Amino acid sequence: MASPGVDIVREFPDTTWADDGPTRGVESVVEDGLVLSFPQLPFTLSDDERRFLDERWADGKAKNISVRWPGGELRGAAGSAADLAALRAMVVRYAEMSEAFALRLFPHYRGTLRRGNTSFRPAQVAGRETSWRKDDTRLHVDAFPSNPMRGTRLLRVFCNVNPSGVPREWRVGEPFVEHARRYLPSFTRPLPGSSWLMHRIGVTKRRRTEYDHVMLQLHDHAKADLAFQRSGPQARVDFAPGTTWVVYSDQVLHAAMGGQHMMEQTFMLDVEDQLFPEKSPLRTLERLLHRPLR
Ligand SMILES: [Fe+2]
Repeated sequence: MASPGVDIVREFPDTTWADDGPTRGVESVVEDGLVLSFPQLPFTLSDDERRFLDERWADGKAKNISVRWPGGELRGAAGSAADLAALRAMVVRYAEMSEAFALRLFPHYRGTLRRGNTSFRPAQVAGRETSWRKDDTRLHVDAFPSNPMRGTRLLRVFCNVNPSGVPREWRVGEPFVEHARRYLPSFTRPLPGSSWLMHRIGVTKRRRTEYDHVMLQLHDHAKADLAFQRSGPQARVDFAPGTTWVVYSDQVLHAAMGGQHMMEQTFMLDVEDQLFPEKSPLRTLERLLHRPLR
């Protein structure tokens, strides 16, 4: 399955989340669509917190347990008030550590990087019941039907916290520009008025721009293309427990094939606040289509 053309993981030796770690100023690496992997950077749980590594803390409705910002409320978890407070404190600690870490790695983003949801995913990847569109074991770039990003970047910091040696198994795929070229010829334009209407009736949280329309088609065309999924350019990557990895998930083709127990912090960044805005999916798609996608 591995393809010699796909080699996008870069490993770094950091053993601390704190400010004195060795890696900093690597904006251009992550903006190039590479995966920054830190195999010796665990998110350590206390003895008391280890009990949360169990699917029973999920409330059964949501896929993940999460903390929403800026309010900081815990969602998706079930338990006593004391349990939920301890669980929330664990997730909040991950938010704070991963934010400090991201700002060390990417000092150019200081003051503009925005904290999105923090999630704890206690459930197994394998065996989730799902439709093909929601099936994240298929290679895709992140794009969400109800949550238009309008070009805003999605930067994610993941950490495998599995207690029994189970790796997080990913596949990664071709560079964004090649992926866009593969499907652009088959894309349609949005129907006039459709983005206004979808916002108006509550299908979307804000109006989709043409960027969102293109990104959703990219997401759906790739997931529906079984030949691409099977034999398109790709490589298998295993993130062992204790590994942290950082990626622009709206740019890097990825698929989660297996694993259990993961922390994830999402950040948002405006394209203009990147070190090299021209490397963004928005600007890449605009170059390929020869028109603005705002
Ligand atoms: Fe994804």
